[in-house]
Amino acid sequence: MSNPQVKVNSNQLVRFGEGKQYMITTMGCQMNEHDSEVMAAVIENLGYRPTSNPENADLIILNTCAVRKKPEDKVASLLGKFYALKEKNEDLVIAVGGCMTQQKTSARYIKNRFRQVDLVFGTHALPRLPDLLDQARRSKITIVDIEEDYADREGLPVAPRSTFHAWVPIIYGCNNFCSYCIVPYVRGRERSRSFNDITEQVRNLAKDGYREVTLLGQNVNSYGHDLPGSVTFADLLSELNQVEGLFRIRFMTSHPKDLSPKLIEAVQQGDKICEHFHLPAQAGSNQILNKMNRRYTREQYLQLIKNIKTAIPGVSITSDIIVGFPGETEEQFLETADLLEKVRFDSAFSFIYSPRHGTRAAKLEDDITYAEKEKRLQYLNKIQQRISKEENDKMVNQIYEVLVEGPSKNDPELQTGRTRNNKLVHFKGPDNLIGRLTNVRISEARTWNLFGEMEGAVN
Ligand code: 5AD
Ligand code: SF4
Repeated sequence: MSNPQVKVNSNQLVRFGEGKQYMITTMGCQMNEHDSEVMAAVIENLGYRPTSNPENADLIILNTCAVRKKPEDKVASLLGKFYALKEKNEDLVIAVGGCMTQQKTSARYIKNRFRQVDLVFGTHALPRLPDLLDQARRSKITIVDIEEDYADREGLPVAPRSTFHAWVPIIYGCNNFCSYCIVPYVRGRERSRSFNDITEQVRNLAKDGYREVTLLGQNVNSYGHDLPGSVTFADLLSELNQVEGLFRIRFMTSHPKDLSPKLIEAVQQGDKICEHFHLPAQAGSNQILNKMNRRYTREQYLQLIKNIKTAIPGVSITSDIIVGFPGETEEQFLETADLLEKVRFDSAFSFIYSPRHGTRAAKLEDDITYAEKEKRLQYLNKIQQRISKEENDKMVNQIYEVLVEGPSKNDPELQTGRTRNNKLVHFKGPDNLIGRLTNVRISEARTWNLFGEMEGAVN
């Protein structure tokens, strides 16, 4: 039943969350993490306070991922758990958003299969969230908003989870249509944020004490192509490098086909711009790269790596790899394994190909067994783990500047920091170092992280 006293629209917010608590569970990539931080701020403006205990929550939001099947399967099991909570708190509002629900078929599936879900919303609905939540808490039926209207997100608040690091989206969406990928369908076409909006946001973050920003986009290198004038990602980086108070600038993800010499130069020259590229190769075989619609060859990729490594000493390069793409032969797979050996990534995330409904690759015939794909994944992981350890070994006995993130998750006696080239370092140190820079001499290298001792003063 509707409550006539509560009238909510974007201009006139009623704080119907006063005295109530919310919890957001986030799946997937950094863009989703950031979207959750926006949702959190929007919800807190309605009066809700955060809780990490679902039993206490009056509002639970599940921010979903659609990039592979596994995270989609997890949604069903999580929703099952949240359901049980409705028995104890009948006013509990359950909302499901993100990339999975932006797809019509998935939105319909959630609505029909999980009838106690109050709200299903897509990636474009963020600016309408207060109105949607208000409708959802008062409605007996599930409210659905999966409009693909590219509503303007500028000016929405954000509540960063960290006190020293912030995600800063610079371009939304993707135009690349890699044949396996659902992202262009659920995040829409590329939209660059304005140069001024980004620089102003980063300046404000630095003023508020944030020391590190990570610029986000599915393909940061194409930043600016849709803006008036001829502004590029390299220009944006160079401008942000001037922001006072900021220590470090990171960015991800880079598409190999668009990585310009100007960008390499900007990273080489900008003292705040960290020497790390996440540059997904996806495969090492030209036939597979072609079928994936990646629009570069193995040779071009290797040349690009050479250019980056020559220009920027100490740079780290990380990658994503897909194994078992439809029709991938043993020989083609071994070309990917050989690419890992040739490039020597600092780390690489390898995934088994997961067919995504509506993509071009989902229509291709796939005659490789899942067991074979798993074998290929393990084979790659073994190679990469050896290489990661060998690359980390090279850092032993050298001194690196780290930005401290706080106590180590596994050992609260230790502090954890990150080097400029994005390696995690654990070391003994006082616990008031969060967000500060210190030098650490590396004493031990492992596959995923490093250990060391603090050396010299703290900044
Ligand atoms: N199957 C497996 N992995 C995928 N990725 C994207 N789509 C798929 C898919 N259908 C991987 C790519 C991408 C990373 C974010 O997820 O490697 O870089
Ligand atoms: Fe997906 Fe390719 Fe776009 Fe990355 S560049 S989001 S893999 S379509």
